[in-house]
Amino acid sequence: MHIKKIDLTNFRNYNRLSLELKPGITILQGANAQGKTNFLEAIYLLATTRSPFARSDRELVNWLVLEPPLPFAKVEALVSRGEEETRLELTIVGEANSAGEWRFRKKVRINGVNKKLADLLGCLRAVLFCPRDIDIIAGAPELRRRFLDIALCQIDARYCRALSLYNRIVEQRNHLLKRAREGELREDELLFWDEGLVEQGSIVTVTRWEALGNIAHWLRRIHKELTGGQEVLQAVYIPSALDEPIPPPRLISPASVEEIKTAFKGRLQATKQKEFEQGVTLVGPHRDDVRFMLDGHDVAIYGSRGQQRSAALSLRLAEMEFITAKSGDVPVLLLDEVMSELDAGRRGQLMKLISRAHQVVITTLEWEVFRQEFLSKASLFTVTEGVIKPYQRS
Ligand SMILES: Nc1ncnc2c1ncn2[C@@H]1O[C@H](COP(=O)(O)OP(=O)(O)OP(=O)(O)O)[C@@H](O)[C@H]1O
Ligand SMILES: [Mg+2]
Repeated sequence: MHIKKIDLTNFRNYNRLSLELKPGITILQGANAQGKTNFLEAIYLLATTRSPFARSDRELVNWLVLEPPLPFAKVEALVSRGEEETRLELTIVGEANSAGEWRFRKKVRINGVNKKLADLLGCLRAVLFCPRDIDIIAGAPELRRRFLDIALCQIDARYCRALSLYNRIVEQRNHLLKRAREGELREDELLFWDEGLVEQGSIVTVTRWEALGNIAHWLRRIHKELTGGQEVLQAVYIPSALDEPIPPPRLISPASVEEIKTAFKGRLQATKQKEFEQGVTLVGPHRDDVRFMLDGHDVAIYGSRGQQRSAALSLRLAEMEFITAKSGDVPVLLLDEVMSELDAGRRGQLMKLISRAHQVVITTLEWEVFRQEFLSKASLFTVTEGVIKPYQRS
């Protein structure tokens, strides 16, 4: 699958942009703060309905139009998949309420027809690597869970539903536990929520666990290639519903939903007293984690910066393979500042690895990080203050 054309209106620092893209490699070069990351963000937003960077939709709308009568930002793309072409439109519109406060909503059109936001999922698949992905490896567990959730929501609507239901149940349950702490609730009132928690939570855990198993398989191969055979990178899922420490054999095959359910129920029962004391849900996929091991050592703890960054990159490439295998579509690969902090050997291997994607968009501060022969095969553009122009090679 690839994007043939992209149109931005009032998106971040892009006032109006219309750009035709080709399959293969596209490189966008520009100084700091010109709009390189914003461009990738727009594509990723269209693929996932969410920005990986913005905390609110308002941030995506160009500052200069954030005023009446109608502040809006729009991202459009013409997506080609085999013989088929699809026109995708995502508009973020601000509406003022009677108190004069702005609220922003997203509207979707597919081939000119109004659709629900969720209908956009699957129309364009993308994988984005950005410098802060190092945090997936080295940062908080929440980021590792989010990595799996976003990858899975792009390909599995059932998972997406279970996850959002589960999150609502946790919220509701936490609310009740807080009341319980204040002595306003009997334990049996929680039972209804416990059932939902275990039901949906087990689906979430098992699906993530299975997905990670798949991803780990690719990760190992890709990372070996990226590092020229030097490093063996492994990933293991750590479900909070199972008793820790988990003996390694249990990590090899994913437990069935029923097995997890039983374990989950047991753990829930065992931690209930603590939950009442703390007023929060302590067991479940919202407490699961993933551990990355490099030659047997935890990368988050022992890995060098370059190793952590390489691991994050391999993880994104593994995500691409995972989405391809599950959906049959090769996602568009978006690489933000991918070359920095990699040594020459890894850079060279990376350029080979990405050739598997049908379309790759790479941003860079400098052309020099690429080999001439690589540049000669790519479409080159420069980005200056929200304007993208073909690069004229001298
Ligand atoms: N809503 C917005 N309206 C207008 N400008 C915005 C908006 N949001 C962000 N910007 C501006 O867009 C500019 C470009 O951001 P972007 O992150 O794309 O830069 P970049 O080219 O990736 O730079 P770097 O090399 O530093 O990563 C920033 O200077 C930022 O201030
Ligand atoms: Mg940037």
